[in-house]
Amino acid sequence: MFVLGLLPLLLLRVCCSRAADISGDVTTEFSVRLYHQLQAAGGEDNIIFSPLSVSLALGMVELGARGSSLQEIREAVGYSHFRQDEEFSLLRNLTQTLSVDEAQYVVRLANSLFLQNGVHFNKDFLRLMKKYFKAEVETVDFSESAAVAEHINTWVENHTDSKIHSLVSADDFSSVTRIALVNAVYFRGSWKNQFRPENTRTFSFSKDDGSEVQTLMMYQQGEFYYGEFSDGTSEAGGVYQVLEMPYEGEEMSMMIVLPRQEVPLATLEPIIKAPLLEDWANNVKRQKVEVYLPRFKVEQKIDLRESLKELGIKNIFTKDADLSAMTAEMSEGKDLFIGRAVQKAYLEVTEEGAEGAAGSGMIALTRTLVLYPQVMADHPFFFIIRNRKTGSILFMGRVMNPEVIEPIDHDFDSV
Ligand SMILES: *[C@@H]1O[C@H](CO)[C@@H](O)[C@H](O)[C@H]1NC(C)=O
Ligand SMILES: *[C@@H]1O[C@H](CO)[C@@H](O)[C@H](O)[C@H]1NC(C)=O
Repeated sequence: MFVLGLLPLLLLRVCCSRAADISGDVTTEFSVRLYHQLQAAGGEDNIIFSPLSVSLALGMVELGARGSSLQEIREAVGYSHFRQDEEFSLLRNLTQTLSVDEAQYVVRLANSLFLQNGVHFNKDFLRLMKKYFKAEVETVDFSESAAVAEHINTWVENHTDSKIHSLVSADDFSSVTRIALVNAVYFRGSWKNQFRPENTRTFSFSKDDGSEVQTLMMYQQGEFYYGEFSDGTSEAGGVYQVLEMPYEGEEMSMMIVLPRQEVPLATLEPIIKAPLLEDWANNVKRQKVEVYLPRFKVEQKIDLRESLKELGIKNIFTKDADLSAMTAEMSEGKDLFIGRAVQKAYLEVTEEGAEGAAGSGMIALTRTLVLYPQVMADHPFFFIIRNRKTGSILFMGRVMNPEVIEPIDHDFDSV
């Protein structure tokens, strides 16, 4: 049996940015179900993953899949009502729309296929990989596992501004590995309304288990998209806040969903569904808001196999997998299956953007009456980073425990 490595890889660094909103993408339901799987497996931990990256990686596998291997992916991801192969055109269009490298923000999507020397791959498959995924194709010798791991890790670093290191290790490959799919997503944005570092304070963050940690809390008053929603219960505890903060350019945004202080995030998570994400996007209103948001950095390496199996994508991980469209010889393809499915994601949220503060709408701090709604993220919250035009979700996750990044150099007592 051959082993196929699937390595969606993703990386995200957000610096200083601003607010935006949501729309419909056919894969949103799948993204949310995947979140629930990670949540079920994740205890009280932070979560960060890239739904977009998973969809792209699965799309690359799907191109080479036949029979129930193909059907399971189409059904789970949400393509069953599409004409045959229409999803590939959709993924290509999404990739083109999203891949920007403007001064305001950067989204880079990179796909690569590493093939075993000497295996004969189907020319059509390689051609379609280029056409739909712009996938770079390279041949390697997986039996030289340490060298391959180093090569792939360098490729990943090259495509993630060196934010994702050591995605794979020598143990991930062996002489039976035939193919590794690697997909990297990199995002860097500056808030449209940046936080002023001099307004950041040390602050207590209350975790859901009742304990407290010290964190650096950013502060600003500014115009954002904001709404209050109810989880359907009649109690006041069922009311939660949604804040959407656009990045420079207003195409990308981060949406933060915060339950009331006394309500654990776990109470809110079960109601999160794709239509609700749209509801939030369509119903937040532009208004002045007081925002307290911790600086945070979340990083996670996820083995996607178990979660994808729970979502109905099982066949590709077994000896019954049919990936025969990948190889020139049908019989050779019947021996391929996916051995690994790994994703690593990284997100850093700080006051400023990498592009600096020029032209952004800064609001002076006033310590007077609270005249505006106040979003105080001093307890666990859910977030997504999305494209407001396409609805594509680049990152989804939750902060249960903000990891304080290196302290900033300023006088905390200044007003
Ligand atoms: C992708 O874009 C092309 C060209 O704009 C369009 O013809 C096609 O219908 C789009 N595909 C999908 C699935 O949206
Ligand atoms: C990474 O980037 C360096 C510098 O551009 C290049 O020489 C090297 O070939 C790249 N490595 C991979 C694996 O893409």
